Amino acid sequence: MCGISGCIIKRGNVANILYSSLKRLEYRGYDSAGVSTIYQGQLLVKKDAGKIDEIHSRLNLLDLPGNIGIAHTRWATHGAPSQVNAHPHLDCTGSIAVVHNGVLENFLELKQELEARKHTFRSKTDTEVIVHLIEEYIKIGKKLTEAVLETTRKLRGSYAIAVIYAGEPDKIVVARNESPLVIGLAKDMNLVASDVAALIEYTNRVVFLENGDMATVTADTFQIIRIDTGIPVERKITELNWTLEMATKGGYPHFMLKEIFDQPNVLREALRIQEKYLDLLTEFLDRGRDVFLIASGTSYNACIVGSYMFSKLARLSAYPVVASEFIENYGSSIGVDTVILALSQSGETADVLTSLDYARYRAATIIGITNVLGSTLTRIARAYVLQNAGPEIGVAATKTFTSQLMVLALLALRLARKRGKVSQYEIDEFQDELRSIPQLVEKTLEISNEPIKKLSREAARFSSMFFLGRGISYATALEARLKVMELSYIPSIAYPAGESKHGPISVIEEGYPVFFIAPNDETRKYLIGNIMEMKARGARIYCVGSEGDEEVKQLSDWFLGLPTTHSLLSPVVYIIPFQLLAYYTSIERGYDPDKPRNLAKSVTVL
Ligand code: F6R
Repeated sequence: MCGISGCIIKRGNVANILYSSLKRLEYRGYDSAGVSTIYQGQLLVKKDAGKIDEIHSRLNLLDLPGNIGIAHTRWATHGAPSQVNAHPHLDCTGSIAVVHNGVLENFLELKQELEARKHTFRSKTDTEVIVHLIEEYIKIGKKLTEAVLETTRKLRGSYAIAVIYAGEPDKIVVARNESPLVIGLAKDMNLVASDVAALIEYTNRVVFLENGDMATVTADTFQIIRIDTGIPVERKITELNWTLEMATKGGYPHFMLKEIFDQPNVLREALRIQEKYLDLLTEFLDRGRDVFLIASGTSYNACIVGSYMFSKLARLSAYPVVASEFIENYGSSIGVDTVILALSQSGETADVLTSLDYARYRAATIIGITNVLGSTLTRIARAYVLQNAGPEIGVAATKTFTSQLMVLALLALRLARKRGKVSQYEIDEFQDELRSIPQLVEKTLEISNEPIKKLSREAARFSSMFFLGRGISYATALEARLKVMELSYIPSIAYPAGESKHGPISVIEEGYPVFFIAPNDETRKYLIGNIMEMKARGARIYCVGSEGDEEVKQLSDWFLGLPTTHSLLSPVVYIIPFQLLAYYTSIERGYDPDKPRNLAKSVTVL
């Protein structure tokens, strides 16, 4: 998730406006940044790796004359954070510049075609193909707007782009598919940006572009057309009364809520992860005699989900282990035949890294899934996959958890194909369901938000609660408990539902709240037995189950029905109401969900 911005002004320079918009967008990514302006018919560029302030102190980003420019702050997805990979990217003639937020699916084939036509690529980014394509259309006499239109029609994937061309220094051309883009209208000046935070300092009159829109923006006009038809469309001008703080949070009161609602898009990005990285990890996983999934906290809960997926779909036994216990438990038995898949959002969790250091010393193969390019995990691992979830600012992991589950599902799918132990039908069915997950999560957010907000008023008064699930839903129960407990500070218990009768059930008394994760899968009939056991002892039953499951609904004191999905993908959908419950219960109890006490985003101590 990168941030893009652009500005065109009638008189004066835009460098200071672009610099301040970059600072506002920094929360979207901060491994490199750059600015490009047009001055006296020349394109000027300053860009580098590092945080914006560091780059500014080295290059002085304010010292860029010109009344038109674009800027970018990067969260690397293709290509390491470096000067050459930083945006803006230029064409071969150095007269066109582009900034991009998103991931292109077909960049490799486009790049090969462009290289065959003698274009020189400087970076390892997917973005650079865009500017070379535009260059080709300009070369054959098209105007910038037309060149961008033709180019976007060739792109597959997500993008928000802003383009300037020294030959037409009176306009910025922008286009979007899935990645957000907004135009800001001010006096004698117009702006474009990934989000309102970048422009609210200058105007509150904005136009939100829709998927498939493209716009040509001058200092006092803008025209929007549809990319597929080229036909002009009207979009309404919205007057916002947002503060700068609200704008940074996309209008949500907290980053956590924004990140919860970002999930459909984050999951779409996860589906675009490049196959070659997934294939590499699959190769290693398939070769291991012993395979371990290690992580801490929420990432560990994702490992449990992964172990069910690998086992059921690919018939691969992979053992989830809490990182801080790994060396004690398995340290003496691991060796050259061991493969360790480490999950860490930050890539910096000390418990994980210490286990990996030890395992490396014993010649085990280490592979990883992380959200942070350049993190220690990416340096230790033989191969890794980046989640592409963008920075997560709320301390509690939400969007990075569901995106970890998507990556694990993609790996399970590939492993299943490679190992060939389940039928093609099962594989195809899983693949189809996987593609529909972003949409199901969108629907789940819609269904859950209001009922959960209401429920949180009741939950805020609980002094303790239980979370139970069977099979893969046990992992959902663990993650639901972790989220609710760490944000509301209500001591809570999570157990495999079948195990609860072996001890924890003694806690139950009249009215004690027990939450069941109850999708309509192969565990349901046993789970109903567990619900009855709890009911018989006076527990108050809260069930999140499948839409239309009347039997479970009848047994419940409170029921929320969610869309049906493949049982192995149900955690991605079923965790959503619990993330919301954690958030709203924290608010009800008067806490700050973005910064729960005693916790840090990245735990770098043992
Ligand atoms: C809980 C949470 C933590 C992290 C854990 C591991 O909401 O965020 O439990 O999951 O500290 O962090 P990473 O994934 O960065 O290794």
